[in-house]
Amino acid sequence: MAQATTPAPSSTHTRGPVTGTARDANRKRAPFLIEFYRSAVGKKYVMAITGIMIMGFVFAHMVGNVKMYLGPAEFDTYAEFLRQILVPIFPRTLFLWLLRLGLITAFVLHIHAAYGLTVINHKARPVKYASKRDYVAANYASRTMRWSGIIVGLFIVFHLFDLSWTGTGFHYYRGAAYENVAHSLERPLVALIYIVANLALGLHLFHGAWSIFQSLGWNNPRFNKWRRGFAIAFAGLITVVNVSFPIMVQAGVVGHVG
Ligand code: HEM
Repeated sequence: MAQATTPAPSSTHTRGPVTGTARDANRKRAPFLIEFYRSAVGKKYVMAITGIMIMGFVFAHMVGNVKMYLGPAEFDTYAEFLRQILVPIFPRTLFLWLLRLGLITAFVLHIHAAYGLTVINHKARPVKYASKRDYVAANYASRTMRWSGIIVGLFIVFHLFDLSWTGTGFHYYRGAAYENVAHSLERPLVALIYIVANLALGLHLFHGAWSIFQSLGWNNPRFNKWRRGFAIAFAGLITVVNVSFPIMVQAGVVGHVG
């Protein structure tokens, strides 16, 4: 009597999704931009575009802060100018608030996309690398990005309390930007916090400026020399100038007036 053969398990078994980005085919599709953002490529685009916006801010902020070396009147005039942009077409500070809203949106999306990409990467490779050397090589950039990003994020919160909102333990004068910076950075511990945070920012900007081209798909090997040059120049300039402020206050080159 002929025996019925049991089909091999592999012929009936359908494999589930193997990548972190693949999803249930029955799920209702969201509008194109949201669907795109849900993919790893979409998140990388968002990281790159918001990264460019933040780089624009960091550059402009650094150029503005250089006015510190011209003295209190110049620096405070510049701080007031920022509040007066497009007055009287707009009421005072309205345009500044629009810029701030754009910047806040860029920061929130940058952090959200970074977190989302980490989750996707963990799903795609839940098992750690077998060799420690592979692990170190593959994750060096992503690990430094995470830590430098967290340091810069914590610094921004401290910095806003320090110079924009309340002051951090020195006599804070609303509207007296030069006095506030000078008073704050003359404390060695605070100067050190600014130096460490801006070194972390430099590292983050170097990897970030390099990765932008990759994320946007402009990674022809012919341009790698330019990419590297741009990343070094941009991150180097921001780091050297930003770190100079706490150092120069400590050295007494920039000092409070009263
Ligand atoms: C040594 C370096 C820095 C110095 C001396 C400095 C100085 C200042 C000063 C004086 C203000 C107040 C401006 C005003 O009241 O008009 C300010 C605000 C601000 N800074 Fe910095 N800053 C530095 C680095 C940074 C970095 C690295 C970031 C971010 C990556 C940053 C983000 C901001 C933000 C978001 C504000 C608030 C702007 C606003 O509300 O209009 N700063 N900074």
